[in-house]
Amino acid sequence: MATRSKLVAGNWKMHGSTAQNRDLLDAIVSRTAWLEKASIAVAVPYPYLWQAQSILANTHVSWGAQNVSQYEKGAYTGEVSAAMLVDFGCRYAIVGHSERRALFGEDSHTVALKFRAAQAAGLTPILCIGETLDQRETGVTEQVVAEQLDAVIELTGVNALSSSVLAYEPVWAIGTGKTATPQQAQDVHAFIRSRIAAHDPAVSAKLRVLYGGSVKASNAAELFCMPDIDGGLIGGASLVADEFVAICNAAKN
Ligand code: PGA
Repeated sequence: MATRSKLVAGNWKMHGSTAQNRDLLDAIVSRTAWLEKASIAVAVPYPYLWQAQSILANTHVSWGAQNVSQYEKGAYTGEVSAAMLVDFGCRYAIVGHSERRALFGEDSHTVALKFRAAQAAGLTPILCIGETLDQRETGVTEQVVAEQLDAVIELTGVNALSSSVLAYEPVWAIGTGKTATPQQAQDVHAFIRSRIAAHDPAVSAKLRVLYGGSVKASNAAELFCMPDIDGGLIGGASLVADEFVAICNAAKN
């Protein structure tokens, strides 16, 4: 089995201010410096990328954005290109978060275009996939996750996944306090990995698949010890220094 190092990525969503961010970023940098085996990242709102860059440059913490345009440049009012993110030192861009899919009408093809645009500029996309409660209850979780994943594989080819990160985020667990059990998460992670392995076992074995959805200090360790869970994408708990640091700590092994 390939050894995959863990990644803990904070997704701040539409939260923060210059003053709050400074305290939070300073705390993350100073209190996780000794963690050698886990990678740590934060995905901040666009206006704070300059601040993330100025505080995190030359530290062990990477930064990125929560979205990216599928277009390279031009007359796209309000959009932010992948090259602009690179200009601010971003390493990651989240694509296909369920809030973007549900609230901003992003379908799987658009998400695939964003994934491709991010990679073309040298970013590592963090591709989010996951089912709603309704879909879980009607037994179509695997179909939904497969459709979201296949859209990217069809557009980019399976090899493109080698320089990406996946995040399985059941929509019913996001911001609800209702975490998937470690076994529920593991089952879907294993399904995702087997679907990719059918195209290319080597890509599948190396790919980091994060779990996201109400991860907190109190449940991170039990999730992260599952064989196919390679860290977490953390929303609410990434805004609280003590919580986020404890989650990073849980990923160190
Ligand atoms: P949550 O969000 O940790 O607040 O549930 C996770 C996410 O949306 O990435």
